[in-house]
Amino acid sequence: MGAISLRGINKRFGATHVIKDVNIEIEQGEFCVFVGPSGCGKSTLLRLIAGLEDITSGELRIGDRVVNHLQPKERAVAMVFQSYAIFPHMTVRENIAFGLTIRRESRAEIDRKVSEAARMLRMEDLLDRRPSQLSGGQRQRVAIGRAVVRDPSVFLFDEPLSNLDAALRMSTRQEIAALHAQLKTTMIYVTHDQVEAMTLADKIVVLKEGRVMQIGAPMDLYHNPANLFVAGFLGAPSMNFLPVTVEAQGARTVTVTGDMLGRTEVPHRGRSFAPGQPATLGIRPQYLRPDDSGALRGTVRVSERLGTETVVDVALAQGTRLMAALAEDVILTPGAPVAFGFDGYKAHVFAETP
Ligand SMILES: Nc1ncnc2c1ncn2[C@@H]1O[C@H](COP(=O)(O)OP(=O)(O)O)[C@@H](O)[C@H]1O
Ligand SMILES: [Mg+2]
Repeated sequence: MGAISLRGINKRFGATHVIKDVNIEIEQGEFCVFVGPSGCGKSTLLRLIAGLEDITSGELRIGDRVVNHLQPKERAVAMVFQSYAIFPHMTVRENIAFGLTIRRESRAEIDRKVSEAARMLRMEDLLDRRPSQLSGGQRQRVAIGRAVVRDPSVFLFDEPLSNLDAALRMSTRQEIAALHAQLKTTMIYVTHDQVEAMTLADKIVVLKEGRVMQIGAPMDLYHNPANLFVAGFLGAPSMNFLPVTVEAQGARTVTVTGDMLGRTEVPHRGRSFAPGQPATLGIRPQYLRPDDSGALRGTVRVSERLGTETVVDVALAQGTRLMAALAEDVILTPGAPVAFGFDGYKAHVFAETP
């Protein structure tokens, strides 16, 4: 029912090519997150799936049907938007029931579905309130409730947490994860926030400028990013990139040299490199450790204590910036000299240069 297949999907708005040859397979029951920076085409892709925009070329299947030319209401999808789009003059109960009321379902059936959705979203006590008497998180749950009662085969969420403050974002995110665990319905969730992608997804699709950069399980993408874009996009603070030159390729590793690195052996993860080739070494801030004899030497620009870790922004010699996330509760003064070492086996090497 809720498997989705996008094959060779393109979308143009006049001369603007917004979605470029997108191929994605989403399994029945999967929680799939489309993530990428603002303007990369996430909402457009979701709207193509919902049927709110026409597909320029390619084939879209939901279940075993090609749905390119079906109206939104014929697709059995329900969409939840960033703006809650709930009616201020209606109670929570009336808002959740709205779609059912206009479909003229029976009173008893509507009551049963609304109660069930309210129980699932823990809103039973709020049913007689109006939206003005709700917090932002509760309003978004009303919008989700309205989607739930329609019993769709696919839920589509477009940045549903963007209007919420940090605490509500986290609790509403957990509500959505719990909802998926309970309903086991296919969900596609769009966000620019890599934390939401990492925490919610079974499968992440990373998008850039209308193209798919990589598809995979969250920790697959985190540990095996296919390119600099995915490497830099997932994980906070972002992976550090340093220019290197390839010296030699071995069975499992490639040896690179760089200005402040000396000679470093890094897993090549199936990529092939030629001696003398310029490349980029990637090292996550969490894998740098303070080491007085370490090769990466510089001075502290800013040091931020976040509680669980301290993030240090370092200026290396010739100005290259390096971010380190240190577990220790260290306070480093701006201007202080620092040196870091790292385990080359935890680093990445890319043939691309930024
Ligand atoms: N109706 C439209 N007409 C022309 N361009 C559009 C239209 N809708 C979106 N775009 C363009 O498509 C690109 C992707 O937009 P969008 O899908 O909203 O990105 P995202 O949701 O990832 O921020 C943007 O450059 C945007 O300006
Ligand atoms: Mg958008």
